[in-house]
Amino acid sequence: MIAYQALQSILRDAPKTWLVTGVAGFIGSNLLETLLKLDQRVVGLDNFATGHARNLDEVQTLVTAEQWARFAFVRGDIRQLDDCRRACAGVDYVLHQAALGSVPRSLDDPITSNATNIDGFLNMLVAARDAEVKSFTYAASSSTYGDHPSLPKVEDLIGKPLSPYAVTKYVNELYADVFARCYGFNTIGLRYFNVFGKRQDPNGAYAAVIPKWTTAMIQGEDVFINGDGETSRDFCFVDNAVQANLLAATTVDDAARDQIYNVAVSGRTTLNELYGYLQEALGQNGVNYDRTPKYRDFRAGDVRHSQADIDKANRLLGYAPQFDIRSGIQAVMPWYIGLIDPR
Ligand SMILES: NC(=O)c1ccc[n+]([C@@H]2O[C@H](COP(=O)([O-])OP(=O)(O)OC[C@H]3O[C@@H](n4cnc5c(N)ncnc54)[C@H](O)[C@@H]3O)[C@@H](O)[C@H]2O)c1
Repeated sequence: MIAYQALQSILRDAPKTWLVTGVAGFIGSNLLETLLKLDQRVVGLDNFATGHARNLDEVQTLVTAEQWARFAFVRGDIRQLDDCRRACAGVDYVLHQAALGSVPRSLDDPITSNATNIDGFLNMLVAARDAEVKSFTYAASSSTYGDHPSLPKVEDLIGKPLSPYAVTKYVNELYADVFARCYGFNTIGLRYFNVFGKRQDPNGAYAAVIPKWTTAMIQGEDVFINGDGETSRDFCFVDNAVQANLLAATTVDDAARDQIYNVAVSGRTTLNELYGYLQEALGQNGVNYDRTPKYRDFRAGDVRHSQADIDKANRLLGYAPQFDIRSGIQAVMPWYIGLIDPR
């Protein structure tokens, strides 16, 4: 925490201009909220493919009018180089989050995932390089570990991708590395592991497990577990991911630049355990859910276990997650209850 606390006070004293792509999405809007609360200037780029104006509206209610006035929104598409250039003008740090997430979405429509996640990524790299930004921090993914069996996952040991989505996120890392080598451009990739928190979309066919189950439980509906429930993940509360982004973007340590980092808590939670934690947190908020889960087939493209080694981010960036899975779930639960069942 010490590195992050120090950084927050440095930023407050000397505000910078940040570009958050995918700002209307889940992680992007959490980055926006934190940066505005630190009195930073923020440009946000989004085409609302999977993000929502309501996320921006919510952030507006959480900051002062003065802080909100430091936010400029660019409606645009990262598949259009001109939109990327428009958004990068005058920016110090880029936090590139815009992409089409979800393994199943990429299995259903690999072409659109590829266009957004690879062509769009390359456009952003070119625009940011030409705008001479100080650093380019981007959302990579734990899916890049693919079929490599080792646990916990260490950055250098990756296997073959198991989905089109994983290919796109791996190609991002290759391009970022090549831009560092060929153009001396400062890039840092953050391999997120199952991030969760407020404003993560619970709706649609590609919703992630925590928002999907939480809303089903609040509505008193059945919860379906893909497989036997012993699949495990390193669930990472969004505030931890925000911390990693700010530390990565601003590092001035040469050894820390042009690197890839795991962003998680190094925990290992099975889906069966997750079910219990959600039930518990709902109960603490006065929502009793006592159904048993319904088990169904494993989902294609999913890895069985995922757990991060976070030593590298700790050592080189000073990353120290503030939330584990249970404190993260407790923090987010009132938000979901308010969303589904506002009283
Ligand atoms: N949430 C996770 O657990 C997780 C895990 C690993 C990696 N990631 C990565 O983190 C990033 C953010 O994910 P998220 O969970 O916030 O997803 P999200 O869908 O909530 O946010 C993505 C945002 O990008 C925007 N976007 C999509 N295509 C765009 C385009 N062509 N032009 C401009 N904007 C576009 C969407 O409208 C949305 O607002 C993504 O790159 C995702 O792949 C997320």
